[in-house]
Amino acid sequence: MDNRQQSGKMWGGRFAETTAPSVEAFTASIHYDARLYRHDIMGSKAHARMLARQGLITAEESEAIILGLTEINTAIDRGEFIFKPELEDIHMNIEKALTDKIGPTGAKLHTARSRNDQVNLDFRLYLRDEVDTLDQLLREVQKAFVRQARVHLGVIMPGYTHLQRAQPVLLSHHLLAYVEMFQRDRDRLCGCRARINIMPLGTAAMAGTGLPIDRESVAEELGFTAVTANSMDTSGDRDYALELLFCLSLIQVHLSRLAEELVLWSSREFDFIRMADQYCTGSSIMPQKKNPDIPELIRGKTGRVTGALMGLLMTVKGLPLTYNRDLQEDKEPVFDAVDTVKASLAITAELLDHTTFKIDRLQAATMGGFMTATDLADYLVRRNMPFRQAHGVVGRIVALCQERECELIDLSLEEMRGFSELIESDIFDILSTEGSVHSRNSVGGTAGVRVEEALKRAEQSLGITS
Ligand code: ARG
Repeated sequence: MDNRQQSGKMWGGRFAETTAPSVEAFTASIHYDARLYRHDIMGSKAHARMLARQGLITAEESEAIILGLTEINTAIDRGEFIFKPELEDIHMNIEKALTDKIGPTGAKLHTARSRNDQVNLDFRLYLRDEVDTLDQLLREVQKAFVRQARVHLGVIMPGYTHLQRAQPVLLSHHLLAYVEMFQRDRDRLCGCRARINIMPLGTAAMAGTGLPIDRESVAEELGFTAVTANSMDTSGDRDYALELLFCLSLIQVHLSRLAEELVLWSSREFDFIRMADQYCTGSSIMPQKKNPDIPELIRGKTGRVTGALMGLLMTVKGLPLTYNRDLQEDKEPVFDAVDTVKASLAITAELLDHTTFKIDRLQAATMGGFMTATDLADYLVRRNMPFRQAHGVVGRIVALCQERECELIDLSLEEMRGFSELIESDIFDILSTEGSVHSRNSVGGTAGVRVEEALKRAEQSLGITS
């Protein structure tokens, strides 16, 4: 007896035995790729319309397929669809449901198509939407920064290098630094989107198809800017997913830098900010504790996002052309990284809106640490002393202050002139933190005029009216 087809699979023709249950469980991806269903259906509808235009199926068949797919979409939306692991993935779950629903016509949908180009299409369509969502979320974070920068324009705080007090800066300048960072992230996502947005369908398994398809019209219907050029490259290409994972990793790394500052700034040692109670948690043993768990978790989640990038890089490494089943391992890390970064961005925007800056504490912190020492050196440079020599003179003045446990501004004019005759009474304006900030008016510097300009530019590009 010919018991071929016994496997009951859509690909079962050449198989004489049913698939082992352990293999079904091991190879199935439906428990995570089900989230591609909308994009799978959208792609299948465009494919069916093209098949009809090309005379590969009739207009009636195309309509029946599209109607059937719409019903399946609704059933999944409503949670009424039963996903079957023995049908492996989202593509075959939907195709089987379609054939069950509309009969043999459903079996025509897969004409001139392979799951290899189908999964590529679905993934690109899905990621294109996620990139747009990520861009929106980044924008909201930028807006939250800009709002705080506007409210606190004029507030001075210490700027740090090596986490040591370095030079006084405007708090708004510090906040706007993050707006720049996240702008680069948005620009990078935009570049990545352009490479996601190329249409793979029509490469079929990997060599293309001899059936008279029209790839360009499918690309146009689905909003792609072009079709991929080489069927073999396309079949095994996950560069767009890797690139997105890099973009996501860098976003999360940026968020982790902000998170670290929020953790530090909310500590008793810095005490620069207060995060609303709603956005903090307590300790189960120490009644006095109020912990910055949100920024800590954001910082911590950087591990899984960068881990996703490393994982997929290793999956793709060494793969021969073209499609290999290894590539099914692409989706989970990407889904997880996308979810993680989206959640982190959303909570960051909220947290920023619920953070209060302690202006007195920030200003008080600018008082110690000789932060205007560079200004004193620049003063001497303006009076023609070579910078290296000025650096030495000011270093010795700082050493004296340390010995006396006083600040630069506490020295008398005569004491300072003991180090250099070039110093005159106008030095006291230079040594004030306000004077220091005001003087740093180079393009991109912290002077009020520059920060105001940067703030206006950001407000304009984000559509905020001040
Ligand atoms: N579920 C598969 C994946 O995610 C779809 C493509 C499978 N193709 C194949 N020939 N087995 O990669």
